[in-house]
Amino acid sequence: MGMARRDLAFVVEAAHRREETLNGIAVHTLESGECDGWPFVAAVGDPALRERVVALCEVRGMTAVTLCDPSVQRHDSVRIGDGGIIAPGAVLTVDITLGDHVHVNIGASISHDAVLGSFSIVSPGARIAGHVTLGRRVFVGVGATIINGTPGAPLVVGDDAVIAAGACVVGPVAKGIRVMGVPAKAG
Ligand SMILES: CC(C)(COP(=O)(O)OP(=O)(O)OC[C@H]1O[C@@H](n2cnc3c(N)ncnc32)[C@H](O)[C@@H]1OP(=O)(O)O)[C@@H](O)C(=O)NCCC(=O)NCCS
Repeated sequence: MGMARRDLAFVVEAAHRREETLNGIAVHTLESGECDGWPFVAAVGDPALRERVVALCEVRGMTAVTLCDPSVQRHDSVRIGDGGIIAPGAVLTVDITLGDHVHVNIGASISHDAVLGSFSIVSPGARIAGHVTLGRRVFVGVGATIINGTPGAPLVVGDDAVIAAGACVVGPVAKGIRVMGVPAKAG
């Protein structure tokens, strides 16, 4: 994503370290102190775990940075919070606000006037239409679609909701609810 490989490292808790390198990239442990003060992004695909990882890194004096692939298309009005990861081929149109540590994965699209809460994850190929508001720690599965809200009434997905892969969300989703299918229903 626009960085030389030598500038990258994985940092994991010691209990999760299985190897010294992964795909040619060094794996360090958080507890070693070697990475204290480094810039970081949380590269985990579960929103709650993402929040936990961020807290662990911040305790070590690490500073969140944003990674946005050069292939990403976005208007200047798109605001990306600290620790954002915007992967290749993503498209973010206009007047969009991403909270901190949001991950927009490959080929996903986010339309005008969307707001995505901190730690939320938009999986590959998902489609978020205009005037949609996601709470914190929302997971949007691969290929899912969320239809548009309106200027006075955004379509709201509550904190910690899970949108299953391939679902089509056509109305509000309450906090902590998992929805699936077309049209999406709790399940
Ligand atoms: C929704 C999801 C979280 C459910 O996972 P789970 O709790 O392990 O669910 P299970 O696989 O046990 O399936 C439970 C039921 O839901 C159904 N189901 C699972 N995923 C579904 C989906 N995406 N759409 C419709 N139905 C689904 C299963 O067929 C099963 O139905 P049954 O009880 O009638 O047999 C998961 O299937 C999913 O969509 N994950 C998103 C994956 C993804 O996007 N990853 C991105 C990686 S970058």
